[in-house]
Amino acid sequence: MSRTAKSILCALLVLLLSLQILSGCSSKKEDETPVDPQPVEPVTPDTPDTPEEPDDPKKEDIVYTIDNIRDYVIGVDEPMEMADGTMAPIINFDNAATTPPLQPVMEKVDEEMKLYGSIGRGFSLKSDHSTDIYNEVRYTVLDFLNADPDQYTCFYVNSTTDGLNKLASALVESEDDLVLCTRIEHHANDLPWRERCKTIYAEVDEDGRVIYEDIERLLKENEGKVKYVCVTAASNVTGYVTDVHRVAKMAHEHGAKIVVDGAQIVAHRQFSMAGETPEENIDFFVFSSHKMYSPYGGGAVVGNWEDLVAHMPEFYGGGIVKLVTDYDVSYKSAPEVYEAGSPNYAGVVGMAEAMRVLKEIGFDAISEHEQRLNKRLIDGLKQLDKVIIYGDTENIDDRVGVVTFNFEDINSYVLATQLSYTKAVATRRGAFCAHPYVWRMMGISDEQAQTYENCVDRNTPGMIRVSFGIYNTEEEVDRFLEILKGLLDEARSATLLDAEAIPEY
Ligand SMILES: Cc1ncc(COP(=O)(O)O)c(C=O)c1O
Repeated sequence: MSRTAKSILCALLVLLLSLQILSGCSSKKEDETPVDPQPVEPVTPDTPDTPEEPDDPKKEDIVYTIDNIRDYVIGVDEPMEMADGTMAPIINFDNAATTPPLQPVMEKVDEEMKLYGSIGRGFSLKSDHSTDIYNEVRYTVLDFLNADPDQYTCFYVNSTTDGLNKLASALVESEDDLVLCTRIEHHANDLPWRERCKTIYAEVDEDGRVIYEDIERLLKENEGKVKYVCVTAASNVTGYVTDVHRVAKMAHEHGAKIVVDGAQIVAHRQFSMAGETPEENIDFFVFSSHKMYSPYGGGAVVGNWEDLVAHMPEFYGGGIVKLVTDYDVSYKSAPEVYEAGSPNYAGVVGMAEAMRVLKEIGFDAISEHEQRLNKRLIDGLKQLDKVIIYGDTENIDDRVGVVTFNFEDINSYVLATQLSYTKAVATRRGAFCAHPYVWRMMGISDEQAQTYENCVDRNTPGMIRVSFGIYNTEEEVDRFLEILKGLLDEARSATLLDAEAIPEY
C-alpha cells in the first residue's frame, strides 16, 4: 500500500471512530437500566476567615500546679441565688468540711465507668479489669503515704469516721482496754474509742496545741496499760499539725500503738508513715478522700499488716469469707476481711487520681500557698475591732489552712448566716464536731457546756471557721475581709446583734 493510500485509510478510521463515540454519548437505548445518580459531595459555602481557636491542651499534657489548679476545680465560679434573688458565685472557705471535685478526678471516674464491673466477684473482663484497678490503688495509697508495702497494707472505707469505727471495732478487745486520746480530737477519733472501752485524755495548752508532756505523763502513770494512743495529724479547729512521729515514739516506748486521724492532713501536707527511726513509725492512719477533691465517698485505713491480720472488724457480710456452712464461717484475711459488701469503686478510682494530682502540684507549693492565705487572713482579722482569733497567731508555721475567730459583740451564728446568704461566702460556724476542744478554746467550762442543748443552736456559743483549699486566692481573702468589715459596721449600727432578729432563710 502506498503512503497516500495508508493516510486516507487512517483518516477514514478516525472519522468512523469519532462518529461512534458521538452517537453513544447523545443517544440512550430504550431498554437500558437507569443508573442511580452518584451522591454529590456537598459544597461547603465559602466562610469568612475566622481566627483559629488555640487548641485546648490535651489532658495528658496538662501539668497541674498551684497556679493553674483553680481552672480545674469544678464549680468555683458557679453562681447561686442569694437571699435577695441576685445570683453570685460563692467564695468557698469551707474546705475542711469537704472539698469540691477536681476535673481530672471526675474525668478519670467517668472513663473507668466504661469498664466498670463487680469487684472480686465476677467472671467477666470488666470485672477483672475493675478488680485489678481496685487492688492496684492500694499501692497508690501506700506510696502516697510513704508506707512500705512489705510492712503495711490498706483497706478502703467510706470516710474517716467509718474507718476509725471499723478500726476501733477491730482493735478494742474488751471494755477494760485503755486508749489514750487528746482533747484536740474530732469526735471521729474520740467517740469510737470512748464508746467501746476506757479512755483517758491528754490536755491541750492555752494556744490549743497538744501537750506532748501530758501524753508522756499519762503513758507513765498507766505504764504498759495503754493499748492505743489516738491523735489527730492536723486539727479541724485550729489547723495545728501534731508531731505524730514524736507521739509514736512515746507510745512505742510504753508498749502502745498509735492511731492517727489523717482527715485534715492528706490534702495539705506530705505525710509519711515512716518516721526517722522505726520507733517513730505510725501504726495506723485513717483518712477520707472527699477532703482531698474526690467527693465520691471513700478513704482508707493504712495499717501494719501484722496488726490488721491479727484482728477483724465487727462488720460482716459478703466478700469477706472463704466459706460459710450452716454453723461455721471461715474468713479471709486483711485487707479483704475489712471490706464486707460491694465496694465503692468510684471512690477508690477518684481517690487515686486525686492523689496523683496533689503530688503533681507538690505539697511544698500547697503548704506555702496555705501559709500565705493564713497570714493574710490573720493579719487582716487583727485589724478588726473586738476580734478574737483562736490559737497562736504569731507562730503559724504549724497550722494548715484553718483560721477560727469570733467578735466579742457579734453572734457568730448570725454573722455566718449573713455571710452565706447575703454575701455568698461559705464558712462554717459552730463547734466543728470537736466540742471539748472548742469549749476549751472559747474558755467555756464543761459544766457550762452541759447546759447547751444542741451545738448548732443559734444561741449556743460557737466559732466561725475559714478553711482554705488549693484553689482559694489572696483576692478572695481580701474580698472576704472587706465583706466582713461591711457586715460588722452594719451589725454594730443595727440589728444583727440580736440573734433572734435574723431572718430564716
Ligand atoms: C480531724 C477530722 N477527723 C475526722 C473527721 C471526719 O471525717 P469524715 O466526715 O470524712 O468521716 C473530720 C471531718 O471534718 C475531721 O476534720
